Amino acid sequence: MNALKIRGRRLRENPLVRNLANEHRLETRNLIYPLFIKENLRSTAEIASMPGQYQWPLSEISRQAEQALKLGIPGILLFGIPKSKDLAGKESFSRNGIIQKAVRTLKKNFPKLLVITDVCLCEYLEHGHCGHIKNGKVLNDASIKTLAKAALSHAEAGADIVAPSDMMDGRVRAIRQTLDKNGFEHTPILSYAVKYASSFYAPFRDAAESAPQFGDRKSYQMNPANRIEALREAKTDLEEGADMILVKPALSYEDILFEIKQKLRCPTGAYSVSGEYAMIKAAAQKGWLDEKKVVLETHLGLKRAGADFIVTYWAKEIAKWVRE
Ligand code: PBG
Repeated sequence: MNALKIRGRRLRENPLVRNLANEHRLETRNLIYPLFIKENLRSTAEIASMPGQYQWPLSEISRQAEQALKLGIPGILLFGIPKSKDLAGKESFSRNGIIQKAVRTLKKNFPKLLVITDVCLCEYLEHGHCGHIKNGKVLNDASIKTLAKAALSHAEAGADIVAPSDMMDGRVRAIRQTLDKNGFEHTPILSYAVKYASSFYAPFRDAAESAPQFGDRKSYQMNPANRIEALREAKTDLEEGADMILVKPALSYEDILFEIKQKLRCPTGAYSVSGEYAMIKAAAQKGWLDEKKVVLETHLGLKRAGADFIVTYWAKEIAKWVRE
C-alpha cells in the first residue's frame, strides 16, 4: 500500500468520529479522594503547599464524605494525624484512635461509602519513620506486627479496604493472616506495592505531619532507577495476599503502571501524589497552565497507562469536570 494514502487525520476532523475512535476515558466511579483527619483540631486548616486541600477535624469529616458521594465519587482514603506520637505507635492501633473514630462515624452515616484506610506508622511514631527504629535502623519484623494490629483495628472499626503504605517486607502476609484470624477474611488489601522513595511526597509530609526526623526513606521505599524490582514487589505482594496494587507516585512512573497491568493482570491503581498536585496548582495560580485541561490530561494518561482507579486530590473537581 502506498504510505501516502494513510491519513490518520480522517479520524480526527469530525468530533463525532473522534468520539467513536476514543479509546480511554476518565470516569468518576474510578476515583478515590484522600482526606486528612486531625485529632483535636479546632477548625479546618488549609495545607500551605496544597492549596484547596485541608486537615479536617472529626466534626467535618462527614460533610466531606457527603460532598464526595454526591458527586459520584465511590470512596475516600483516610490519613490520620493523632493527638500524640510515641515510640510504640500506640495511636495507630488504638480503638479510640483518630482513624478508628473517623471510620466508625463515616460508616454509620454513609454505609455505602467505600472507606479505605492508609496503614502506616509514620504519622504515629515520634521520629516520623514508617517502622520502629533500633540503633538508627528501621526494623522490619517488629514493624509488621504493629502494622497488622493497626490494619485489624481499622477493619474492626468498619474499614472496607486497608491500604498498607509502609513498604516493610512481609507486611501484606502479616496483615492478611491477622485479618483472617479475626474474621475479616473478606476485607481486601490494597497494597502500595510499588512505592518509590520520591521527592514528590514533600507536601504530604506537611499535611500528615509525618516527615522523618532524621535520614530518609530510601532503606524501605524503592529506588526510582528500578523497573524490574517493581514487578517483583507487586508479584510478591499478590502472592502474600494483596487484592489490588497501587503504584506511587503516578507521574514519572507510568511505565511501571503499564507494565504491572500488562504482566500481572490485577486491579491496579495509581496515586497522583501531593507533589504532582502542588506542581500543577502552582503553575495554574501563576496563569502558566490551565488547571482543568492539564489535570484531565494527566489523569487520562494514567488511565491509558493501565490504571483501573486513581487516588487523587482532584477527585471532586474531576467529578465535576467530566460531568460537563
Ligand atoms: C505514608 C504515606 C506517604 C504518602 C502516602 N502514604 C508519605 C511518605 O511515604 O512519605 C504520600 C502521599 C502523597 O504525597 O500525596 N507512608
